[in-house]
Formats: sequence, C-alpha cells, structure tokens
Amino acid sequence: MLKKLEHVGIAVEDLDQALEVYQETLGLAPDEVLEVPERGIKIAFFTLGQVQLELLASTREGSDIGNFLQKRGPGLHHLAFLVDDVAAALGRLKEKGIRLIDETPKRGGRGNRIAFVHPKSIGGVLVELCEKHG
Ligand code: CO
Repeated sequence: MLKKLEHVGIAVEDLDQALEVYQETLGLAPDEVLEVPERGIKIAFFTLGQVQLELLASTREGSDIGNFLQKRGPGLHHLAFLVDDVAAALGRLKEKGIRLIDETPKRGGRGNRIAFVHPKSIGGVLVELCEKHG
C-alpha cells in the first residue's frame, strides 16, 4: 500500500527564521513557499534526493499546526507516504480498525490528495497518505 516515503513534515514556530537556518546554515534552498489559507498554514518545500522536506508554520490561532506547536513545541510533525489511491487506502485502514483523522481525502499544499491517520494507531507517529496529482 505504501510506495515510498514522500516527505517529512516539520513544525516550526517562525518560518522565516527556519528558512534562514535551512538556507544559510544547511545550504538548502526551498523549491517553493506557499500558503494554504483554509488550513491556516504556510509551507516551505525542499527536495533532498528522493524525499522532500516540508516546513510547516501556523498563520492563525487554532490551526492544526498552531495546536501542535502549543502542545508539543517545534519538531517532527508527520511522515508522508506515497500511495496510489488515498480513498482506497483510507477504506482499507478503516476496515482494519485504524483510527483516521481524515475520513475522506483533502487537498494538500501542491494539489495532491492527502489524508492524515491518527498517531495513536501508528506507534505515535502522525502519518499522511499522499496521492500525486499533476
Ligand atoms: Co505533509
């Protein structure tokens, strides 16, 4: 079902500051920085070989990332795995009794279809299922 690790999501308090560290210190330039207003987040994408990094910052109180930062502080947020069909994968997980955050796919930052699976069901790791579009 899982085809590969697609990206790693990292929650940051201050995106500009994090971008500076990644660019100046780690020598990684972002491919793209974009805002997803309906989710209250701003995301910077980096490509590292086959895997991408996603730096996630909150743009409003009460967003998923805002809540995460408040509870856990900055750091590793989620692992995203590529699947062929998010809806089918969700159906299969649900059948197996896995707790889902998203019952149906939603639109990800780059037009992909994504859905989150609850960390309680997968060893404490928030997992994103990601289906490529375009
Ligand atoms: Co993600």
